[in-house]
Formats: sequence, C-alpha cells, structure tokens
Amino acid sequence: MLRIVVLGSAAGGGFPQWNSNDVTARRFRAGDRRLRGRTQSSLAVSSDGERWVLLNASPDLRQQINDRPILHPSVDAPKRATPIAAVVLTGADVDNVAGLLTLRESQPLALHADARVLDVLKGNSIFNVLNPAYVVRHALALEQTTALRDPSGRPLGIRVRAFAVPGKIALWLEDLRKSDFGTAQGDTIGLEVSDDMGSRFFYVPGCAEFTAELGQRLAGADLIFFDGTLWEDDEMIAQGVGTKTGRRMGHMSCSGAEGTIAAISSLGVKRKVFIHINNTNPLLIDGSPECMQAERAGWEVAYDGMELTL
Ligand code: MLT
Ligand code: MN
Repeated sequence: MLRIVVLGSAAGGGFPQWNSNDVTARRFRAGDRRLRGRTQSSLAVSSDGERWVLLNASPDLRQQINDRPILHPSVDAPKRATPIAAVVLTGADVDNVAGLLTLRESQPLALHADARVLDVLKGNSIFNVLNPAYVVRHALALEQTTALRDPSGRPLGIRVRAFAVPGKIALWLEDLRKSDFGTAQGDTIGLEVSDDMGSRFFYVPGCAEFTAELGQRLAGADLIFFDGTLWEDDEMIAQGVGTKTGRRMGHMSCSGAEGTIAAISSLGVKRKVFIHINNTNPLLIDGSPECMQAERAGWEVAYDGMELTL
C-alpha cells in the first residue's frame, strides 16, 4: 500500500506569493473561504506509514513538516530524529531544491536525483550543509527502477523510476545565449512510484509538452499528479503580472486543444490530480468555472494536506 500526502500544491512562489497584490491574494488575506493557502509543490510517500520519502524539497519544507504530524519525530525516537528517510528530486528549480537547506543538522538521509541535478548541487557549496558524512547522494539513471532504502540501508518498500519529460533547465540556470537555454535531458524528470504489491502512481509536476510516449506511459494509470501551473498559456501576460508564456517557462497549460485536460482525456487514467498550481491559475478558486470544467473532465485540484491511498 502507498500512502501519499500532498505537502504542497502550488507552483514556485506558493499562494499567495509573498509580493502578490492580485485580487485572489487580497481575497485570501481577507478570509475568503473559496481560496486556500498553498505551499510549494511536494509529496510525501510511505509504504509502511512510518518512514517517508519526499518527492522534491520545497522552500516551504519547514512549514510543511510543522503542519504534518506524520513528519514529526516519533515520541520514542532519539532526541534528533525524523521520519523522512529519503528525498527524490525532479529538477533543480528553486521550488524543488531550496528545502534541502532545511534538512541540514547532520541528519542521515538518502538523496536521489538525476546526475545533472546532482552536479548543480555539487557546484553550489551551500548544499554542503547537507553533511556529506550523513547524506548520501545517489544518481537516478533514467528508465531504471530503484528500490529506495533508508539511510541505514533498510528497504523502504518504495521503488522509483525516473523518466525524461519535455521541459526546461531551471530558471536560475538558464543560458540566455542559447535558444533552448542550455536544457538537456534529465533537467526535468517525471517519477513512476510503486510499492512491492504493485500499487503505482506518477508524479509529473513540470511538463512542457505532451508526447505520444508520455501518453503511452500514463495510459491506464491508477493515479497521476500532473503539472497544473497555468490554465491558459498567456494568463500571466493577460493578468498583467509577467511577460512569459507557459511555453517559455516549460509548462503546458491545463485548458485548450493542446492542453493537459485534452491530452489525457482518452488515456483511461483513473484518478487525475493537478499540482504545481501557479498563483494566476483560476483553479485556485474553489467553484470557479475553470474548476468545474476540470472536475467535469475528471480532474481534482491538489490542496495542501490532501491524502490518498493506493
Ligand atoms: C517553474 O516551475 O517554472 C519554476 O519553478 C520557476 C521558478 O523557479 O520560479
Ligand atoms: Mn516550479
């Protein structure tokens, strides 16, 4: 059995974003119940209900740990302890890696990421606060299934398989002289997560484009968490809060003929959950026409604290 807890459901910046004076942010701050605060996207997964694997380490991780008793040290644990046994990264974006800095304090952990992302961490000595004597870094080879272990080597009963997803190098690593900003395979990965009994789901918090290959992979899945950054490609421009399209940021949109809802509609996926939702996306407003459209198409919108069992 897999227990999955949504630690954070928003895109980079969270909702409300610290400097946002949008009407949605103002309504939330004024107490409008149709809007929920959302931290930056991350999942916690466990097969034994005791030891947990984080899928991405968001800048909000300290708050996410404080908000979720499953991530607190158990009462009979030593004075320094954590149920977090391993962390798996899907890319080097700030919203995926900044939470690693919260996990300092010489705490044993297993860290898994694509070799490109591990190189980025190695090249930034601030990440040495994850004491290399305690935190072992493992390269995730694409299309290989890895059985995760806790830092003492005990199997966690969770396997991950990383696969390349159309995407983009992290924003803070973009090389603006290059048309692809220096993106290479492995910069954005999706994860297939499974247990020893065959329960299985997919986590794809960033995806620039839907391909036939991705469709074959996701077809018939019991559960997917998928990139719900933007409802419409130009919504940041239309709302006057940015100059970039979703395409430029490496995110396909939820709506439209080439959007996620259309792309996944005929794949026979049983449970579909949007995650990594940007502060401009009307899916943030419970009961909005866009929420209802997504729901009619069988989609759910992730929220912080959402729990699923497979
Ligand atoms: C993204 O998902 O596009 C990034 O998180 C952007 C960012 O780092 O702000
Ligand atoms: Mn992001």
